[in-house]
Amino acid sequence: MGFGKVGVVGLGTMGAGIAEVLARGGVETVGVEINDAALERGRSGIEGSTTRAVTRGKLTEEARDQILGRITFSTDFGALADCDLVIEAVPELIALKAKVFAQLDEVCRPDAVLATNTSSLSVTEIAAATSRPESIVGVHFFNPAPVMKLVEVIHSERSRPEFVAAVTELVGDLGKVPVTIGDRAGFVANRLLFGLLGPAAQLAETGVAKEDIDASLKAIGLPMGPLTLMDLIGLDTCLEVLEAVHADSGSPRHEPAGILRKLVDEGSVGRKSGGGFYTYDRAGSGTVV
Ligand code: 3HC
Repeated sequence: MGFGKVGVVGLGTMGAGIAEVLARGGVETVGVEINDAALERGRSGIEGSTTRAVTRGKLTEEARDQILGRITFSTDFGALADCDLVIEAVPELIALKAKVFAQLDEVCRPDAVLATNTSSLSVTEIAAATSRPESIVGVHFFNPAPVMKLVEVIHSERSRPEFVAAVTELVGDLGKVPVTIGDRAGFVANRLLFGLLGPAAQLAETGVAKEDIDASLKAIGLPMGPLTLMDLIGLDTCLEVLEAVHADSGSPRHEPAGILRKLVDEGSVGRKSGGGFYTYDRAGSGTVV
């Protein structure tokens, strides 16, 4: 089973990155957003990312144009009607995901595979919003999607094994490293990674300087310090993942620090808002001021 045409619902940080990965891999891609403004943000994110690659000499202008030419953009779910696979990447709210999957259930072909990029919710619970839970799988990309190799492919209690195998094969064909696992809070990577990120935020709360926390772990080989990484992921997402994993593991390592809740309450959710543990020169930038 091949996936000639793939839809992506939600073109925020993750969805835009996933659409870019698909188009770079030669897949005809349909990006769907809720309104014109969100669609335009997604489109310009993908254009910006691929144009940066041209500037860095990693991509020719011709190759960039071909990649962009493989993506069509729409605010109409009907544009997903002939997709072989649709990947949902909307915010981590179960009610919203359920609504999106109910809509996909209506418009998508009966033989289409429907995937969720959830990082913290139960794939089995999301699948229950459809009349075809056996068609739902998890496909969990990491941020930034065009760079990170790992993609977790999650089978729920009901996923059809051949659908899981087909998505795993696609992920490999896209140049990523698929790891196929069962449906549990945090899957594997977030469960382990947030066992590090949770205590980093707890340490910051006790007054340890954020620069020292980050410098320590960078100096032992992580590509970025844990608080910088949380700002990159988005503190709202970090809080959601920690809450979900903590509810399941009960480990104090996964207990969300008060400082994390406070920053999220204030709307300081990391790079995308211009501030989180650090302050950035503008929303979306990685330059600390
Ligand atoms: N989109 C596309 N490409 C990007 C990018 C982005 N947002 N950010 C960086 N890149 C590319 C650059 O273009 C560059 O490509 P090149 O080597 O082909 O020229 C390459 O990545 C390296 O980028 P930089 O030189 O600008 O910067 P760094 O070397 O510092 O790398 C980083 C940046 C790749 C983000 C690196 O610091 C890193 O790997 N950090 C850790 C990220 C991580 O752990 N992510 C997982 C988070 S957990 C998660 O997402 C799960 C979720 O459920 C919460």
